[in-house]
Amino acid sequence: MIDQFGRRIEYLRVSVTDKCNLRCVYCMPLHGMPWMRHAELLTYEEIEHIVRIMAGMGLRRVRITGGEPLVRKDLPELVRMIAGVPEIDDLSLSTNAVLLAEHAETLRQAGIRRVNVSLDSLRPERVDEIARRAGSFSRIMAGFEAAERVGFDPIKVNVVLMKGANDDEIEDFAAITRERPWHVRFIELMPTGSNLELSAKQFFSCQEALRRLRAVDRLEPVAGPRGNGPALYHRFPGAPGTVGVITPMSHTYCDRCNRMRLTADGHLRPCLFGSLQTNLRDPLRAGEDVARLIEQTLSVKPERHNLVQGSVQGSGGLVALSQTGG
Ligand code: 5AD
Ligand code: SF4
Repeated sequence: MIDQFGRRIEYLRVSVTDKCNLRCVYCMPLHGMPWMRHAELLTYEEIEHIVRIMAGMGLRRVRITGGEPLVRKDLPELVRMIAGVPEIDDLSLSTNAVLLAEHAETLRQAGIRRVNVSLDSLRPERVDEIARRAGSFSRIMAGFEAAERVGFDPIKVNVVLMKGANDDEIEDFAAITRERPWHVRFIELMPTGSNLELSAKQFFSCQEALRRLRAVDRLEPVAGPRGNGPALYHRFPGAPGTVGVITPMSHTYCDRCNRMRLTADGHLRPCLFGSLQTNLRDPLRAGEDVARLIEQTLSVKPERHNLVQGSVQGSGGLVALSQTGG
């Protein structure tokens, strides 16, 4: 799968649900969203079928996302099914870790090798405030412990930067990388339909975060861990972990984009943002050839996203990243 801009597409993010057990302020409205109905969701068999077709076209890596993927029933079963596709040599999970402690062992046995965990603060009361669910922090910490215990490697921590909410913790987060082989990634807040005001008012740039960290110690650019995506990585001298930045707003990485996305209701999206998507589910259920649709979708993958601060324009009307798997 090579697109019209010469990019090799070998990575698929599979969203298994649009639901979530948290309500992070920048992501979902407090009262949730009109959820997809169960019959609208791809079954695990349908997901496996699409992954197998794409594997024949060059797909090598799959990440399972949501919403929160662990709220979908029997997730390890899907993991086993995808792990059984011979071409797929990298299978990972993005989670908020609230339910990870319960499932880590089974997920590991089923074939998940590494995880990305969202964590926006190291202070319990702040985590509960940002995620808007009391008691989240202790469950997330139990999730991290379980992730280490069962040997997920690497562990990446995603931190969405918000002025006045967690920008005073940049140094604390980075300090973790001196103690543990974790990869802490700061992410710039992206505007979506449900967070326009917040994303405009509380935007905090990764360049500023790096400036602050350079005042602490030397930061050397490094290649970064396996699964190298949009993040650019740095390391404090001798630190086992790295500090990454994901800069959708102040810098674009679209020229090295290697991915497509499959939504929980079976739409293949060539770009996180924008309105382009192809319904694979209905043709699949009608017995049609979806390989051709996949190729067509790849052929219209845009050169870059066009996010605009304070506007839904660039995001293509997306209400929250949870709808597409982030
Ligand atoms: N801007 C930046 N990051 C976001 N995420 C969810 N919504 C947004 C947004 N509007 C993050 C989550 C998770 C990752 C998949 O995307 O916190 O870490
Ligand atoms: Fe859930 Fe992730 Fe959205 Fe937070 S950012 S509400 S954890 S999907």
